[in-house]
Amino acid sequence: MFKGKARAYTNIALIKYWGKENQALILPKNNSLSLTLDGFYTETEVLFTEEATKDCFYLDGVKQSEQATKKVTTFLNLVRERANCPFFAVVRSHNHVPTAAGLASSASGLAALAGACNQALGLNLAPKELSKLARRGSGSACRSIFGGFVEWDRGDSDETSYALPIDAQGWEQELAMIFLLINDQPKDVSSREGMQRTVETSAFYPQWVKEAQADLHIAKEAIQHHDFQKLGTVMEANALKMHATTLAAVPPFTYWSPDSLRAMNLVRSIRQAGLFCYFTMDAGPNVKVLCQKKDIAAIFEVLSSTFSDQQMVVAYAGPGIELLEMDV
Ligand code: PMV
Repeated sequence: MFKGKARAYTNIALIKYWGKENQALILPKNNSLSLTLDGFYTETEVLFTEEATKDCFYLDGVKQSEQATKKVTTFLNLVRERANCPFFAVVRSHNHVPTAAGLASSASGLAALAGACNQALGLNLAPKELSKLARRGSGSACRSIFGGFVEWDRGDSDETSYALPIDAQGWEQELAMIFLLINDQPKDVSSREGMQRTVETSAFYPQWVKEAQADLHIAKEAIQHHDFQKLGTVMEANALKMHATTLAAVPPFTYWSPDSLRAMNLVRSIRQAGLFCYFTMDAGPNVKVLCQKKDIAAIFEVLSSTFSDQQMVVAYAGPGIELLEMDV
């Protein structure tokens, strides 16, 4: 019997990962840059045991369907092969997210699973190697191995595609992200399907790859100089470019809902009133607002004109993956 347990925090991309170069290895088309957050995390324990007759996956205490267990099994097969482990596994995950937030994140989930397997099977992977392993579970998971600002270098092979932290000399501690929870329904188009469709059919996609590279360069300069307006401006522009690619896909789709647009307009108006804050969005309708800690109260007040207290959750910069003691 081999067991391990890890906690990984979610991350939000400021410069997005959008599109795969290699589906099987999860090699992206472009580098991305994220901020790991403290608000939402996943704790996962894994038990490889000869007593198990198949892989079992429990999420928040509920046994998951065969379909949901499939992604976990695909990842477990990878580590079983590496460690020469013949046993099936029992995986228990707990997502620590606000109730009905609709933010259950594949980034924190697959990073925590990779960390738990690393510990259970004695793979002894250093963080960079663990990032490569987590990437095979879900692309964005490779960034959740590290805390603060993180860059995922796309590389061009399994060996060369991994994330590394960006040293901002603690500047990330001055920032905050306000999550506007717009809808907790399962999404129509998964990030996986959305990426594939835009890569294959969107007339805007080739330009996205070029823009993302230029945006990443600007974002890194902004982080180096602790320039909040520059970082926020490029983050917001990058999110809009990513979402623009979906409108030109065939068939077209969007992750925006009417309330997402309301939130974006509100953020713009707060900015016009002189308070600096910027939005980003991922493969769903929720809007995330990047701001400086010192402005949170003032920004919250304006946002409360449109969103309820339950819809607004604040997160701060968070740490990298942590190994935990098993309960049993
Ligand atoms: O790692 P995935 O397959 O969940 O894809 C994440 C994609 C985005 O959230 C839209 C962007 C990103 O870089 O996190």
